[in-house]
Amino acid sequence: MEKNQPQNQEDLFFSQDERSGLYKTIFNRRDVRGQFKPDPIPDDVLSRVLYAAHHAPSVGFMQPWNFVVVRSQAVKQKVHHAFVEANDKAADMFESEKSKKYRSLKLEGILESPVNICITCDRQRTGPVVIGRTSMKEMDLYSSVCAVQNFWLAARAEGLGVGWVSIIEQQALQEALAIPADIVPIAYLCVGYVSHFFDKPELETAGWLKRTPLDDLLYFDQWGEQKSSDEETLVSQVIEDKQFPGNW
Ligand SMILES: Cc1cc2nc3c(=O)[nH]c(=O)nc-3n(C[C@H](O)[C@H](O)[C@H](O)COP(=O)(O)O)c2cc1C
Repeated sequence: MEKNQPQNQEDLFFSQDERSGLYKTIFNRRDVRGQFKPDPIPDDVLSRVLYAAHHAPSVGFMQPWNFVVVRSQAVKQKVHHAFVEANDKAADMFESEKSKKYRSLKLEGILESPVNICITCDRQRTGPVVIGRTSMKEMDLYSSVCAVQNFWLAARAEGLGVGWVSIIEQQALQEALAIPADIVPIAYLCVGYVSHFFDKPELETAGWLKRTPLDDLLYFDQWGEQKSSDEETLVSQVIEDKQFPGNW
């Protein structure tokens, strides 16, 4: 067995500055659709972000992902076409007022962003039996989603915007990128430098939905068991921290 050294004792806890950097990245990450600049992404930057994605946790350490880096305008055009088709269908699924609002939203930046990346999941990568996927069969898919989140956060730390486009029929995406039938496309991401990042989710400012208060989402011991802040100090702490990390 390979030797596994413990990390340095001084890295047991990160410094205040290091933690601030992490929270800054998390809270300043945005889904970017409309502010892409054409500036190329240097290979060293993209390489770091891809390494961050590759170091995501994965069930049984199966690392089921691949990263299809799309720079070809012709391929992007195909994906964009698939988006337009799916988006038209999607708009019709909402009732009339919402449908009008939906059509006014910009929900992708496929052609404007210099790089698109498709993160996939190979469900057969390490054979049929995988540690941790024996009962919950979707865990490999969720592992690739972890890679997406790592990518998104590392990109933000590098000043790169990322927009996830899921309004595409899976089959159309597989065809556009020549992805074999047994590989699952998990995320199609538009990536590039941006003129600015918004402060809040665009769907929030567009009046589509609001951020749910965290304390509404907390249950204790049993599904649906909410406690008042008098009974449970965590609830009062969460309410007190409403502005986190702004006042931290
Ligand atoms: C699985 C997933 C799929 C998404 N698909 C789309 C999409 O097709 N188009 C889009 O504009 N945003 C998409 N988003 C981005 C969300 O709309 C966005 O994350 C949410 O509104 C919160 O905004 P924020 O990411 O800026 O905090 C997707 C996000 C996730 C996690």
